[in-house]
Amino acid sequence: MEKNNLYWHKPSVIMEDRWKANGYRGCLLWFTGLSASGKSTIAHDLCRHLLELGINSYVLDGDNVRHGLNKDLGFSPEHRKENIRRIGEVSKLFIDAGLIIMTAFISPYREDRSNIRKLLKEGEFIEVYVKCSLQECERRDPKGIYKRAKAGEIKEFTGISAPYEEPENPEVILNTDTLSIEACTKKLFGHLVENGYIDAQKYINGTKGHVIEEEKD
Ligand SMILES: Nc1ncnc2c1ncn2[C@@H]1O[C@H](COP(=O)(O)OP(=O)(O)OP(=O)(O)O)[C@@H](O)[C@H]1O
Ligand SMILES: [Mg+2]
Repeated sequence: MEKNNLYWHKPSVIMEDRWKANGYRGCLLWFTGLSASGKSTIAHDLCRHLLELGINSYVLDGDNVRHGLNKDLGFSPEHRKENIRRIGEVSKLFIDAGLIIMTAFISPYREDRSNIRKLLKEGEFIEVYVKCSLQECERRDPKGIYKRAKAGEIKEFTGISAPYEEPENPEVILNTDTLSIEACTKKLFGHLVENGYIDAQKYINGTKGHVIEEEKD
């Protein structure tokens, strides 16, 4: 069999080495939620915040991957599944490279999200539910797509004519009806620090990050 001719070359630098050297570990923040809930906005805001601290991250955003890596894929159920599978595999490589990767896809199906979780090691998958009422998403409608979906111009649109399966146990919930963009970014950053993804000594009180002033009596 052809597979028998494939050999796995053992890398000399492993994930734990990068983790130690960087002061943060590779992981995947998987944003899920309705269109206009704020996935892209918050992911890019966090990415900017991390960059300012010297932490490398990257956002794989919505349809952008369909322009390159997945341009051969359409929207049939098989192709949608393959789209998500490839995003998962790419994320896995990013994690191995030591980056904090963020994905911003509506990803309405629990099974798809759970398959990505299964693909990764314990602790690497952080499901971020960007929770926002349909009413507020329709009010924001930055791309004008709710209007088009309601006019019947877009078929199978999540929330209007296709289901959204809410996460059952997401690691983080961001209620964007009430939380500001800054508060969401802060909550996510806090999650990464509190759960040991980012070394607080190095990036908060250390030389690289913003030094938090000790309160003086
Ligand atoms: N608290 C908030 N968090 C995030 N976005 C907010 C918030 N309040 C208002 N907004 C606005 O809501 C809109 C969210 O749009 P965004 O493109 O980020 O959504 P999305 O979830 O990525 O949608 P899509 O799935 O269509 O790509 C933006 O115009 C943003 O400025
Ligand atoms: Mg988006």
